[in-house]
Amino acid sequence: MSISALDHTNKRVLMFGGKGGVGKTTCSATAALHYASLGRRTLIISSDLTPSLSDIFEMEVGAVETPVNDVENLYALEISPDEVMRRWKEKFGPEVYEAASSLIDMEYDEVIDYVAIAPGIQEEFVLDYILERVRDGRYDLIVWDTAPAGDTLRLLDLPYKFLQHLRMAPKFYFEVRDTFQLKKVPFLELIDNWKALAREVTDFMRNPDNTEFILVTIPEALGVYQARRLVREFERYGLPIHYLIINNVIETPDCEFHRARAEMQAPYINLLTAEYGPSMEIIILPLFPHEVKGVERLRELRKVLFADEHL
Ligand SMILES: Nc1ncnc2c1ncn2[C@@H]1O[C@H](COP(=O)(O)OP(=O)(O)OP(=O)(O)O)[C@@H](O)[C@H]1O
Ligand SMILES: [Mg+2]
Repeated sequence: MSISALDHTNKRVLMFGGKGGVGKTTCSATAALHYASLGRRTLIISSDLTPSLSDIFEMEVGAVETPVNDVENLYALEISPDEVMRRWKEKFGPEVYEAASSLIDMEYDEVIDYVAIAPGIQEEFVLDYILERVRDGRYDLIVWDTAPAGDTLRLLDLPYKFLQHLRMAPKFYFEVRDTFQLKKVPFLELIDNWKALAREVTDFMRNPDNTEFILVTIPEALGVYQARRLVREFERYGLPIHYLIINNVIETPDCEFHRARAEMQAPYINLLTAEYGPSMEIIILPLFPHEVKGVERLRELRKVLFADEHL
C-alpha cells in the first residue's frame, strides 16, 4: 500500500501530523519531493520550533520561501513560532488594538502581547498564510509539516478559545464584560471577523477536494494512543483521515535484538490494521539502517511511500 492514490487528486494542501519524532518531517519532505518531481509547484512549510527542513534538505532554509537545491519546482519555508508571532502582530496588531482600546485603557504592547498568546493564534496564522498562497496560485500544492503537538485543529474553535483567553485576564475581562453590556462595540466586530476567518479556514479544510491529512505513527503503545486521539479529534470536526503511515517497522529481523523489537511491534501493527484498515489506507514504512537525510535518501523513501507503476 502507498499514498500514491493521492496523485490522482488535485489536493492543494497535505498535512502530516502525529506524535513527536515519529517521522512527520521525513514523510512531509518525501511527499513534497514526490509532487515537485511530478511537476507540481510545491511549497513545504514547517512551523516547528527546531529547524528541521534545513536539516533534512541539508541546506539553509529560512523564513522566506527558498528553492530547494537540485529539486525543480520545490520550495521550502521554515517559519518559527517567534517569526509567526512577529508577523501576526504586524498583520493583526493594529486592528486588535483599535478594537480593544475602545474598551480598555492599556498600552499597545500590553494588549497585543496578551492577545497574541491566545490559543490557536499561531496555527491560524500559518493556515491564513497557506490559504493566501493557495489562492494566489503561486503553488499547486502546499505540504505542511505540522507541529508535534498535533493540536492544529484547535484553531477551529478559535473565536471561543479567544474569548476564554480574554477571561483569564481579570482586568481585560471585567472591562470587556462591563462595556459589552453598555454598548455594541467594535470588539464584537473583531470577534465576528475572527469567526469569519476561522470559518473560512474550516470550510477550506473541510472540503475534501482541498486538503488531506496524513497521520504518521509508530508501532508502539504511545503511537497507538496518540493515533486514536487524533483520529477522534478529526472525527469531531467531521474530517475523516484516509491515510495512516506506520513508520519504523522492522520487516526482516536478522538478529535477536531486532526479532525482539519486531515481536514488540507486531501486536500494535495488528491493532492499528484491525482498527483502521477498513477505513484507511495503511502504509508500512520500514525502519532504515540510516537516518533519512538529504535528497538522495528521500528519493529512496519516495519509492516506498509512493510505490506506483510510474516510479
Ligand atoms: N523509516 C525510518 N528509518 C530510519 N530513520 C527514520 C525513519 N523515519 C524517520 N527516521 C529518522 O527519525 C528521526 C525523526 O524523524 P522526523 O524528524 O521525520 O520526525 P518528526 O515526527 O518530524 O519529529 P518532530 O516531532 O521532532 O518534528 C530523524 O532523524 C529521521 O531521519
Ligand atoms: Mg518534525
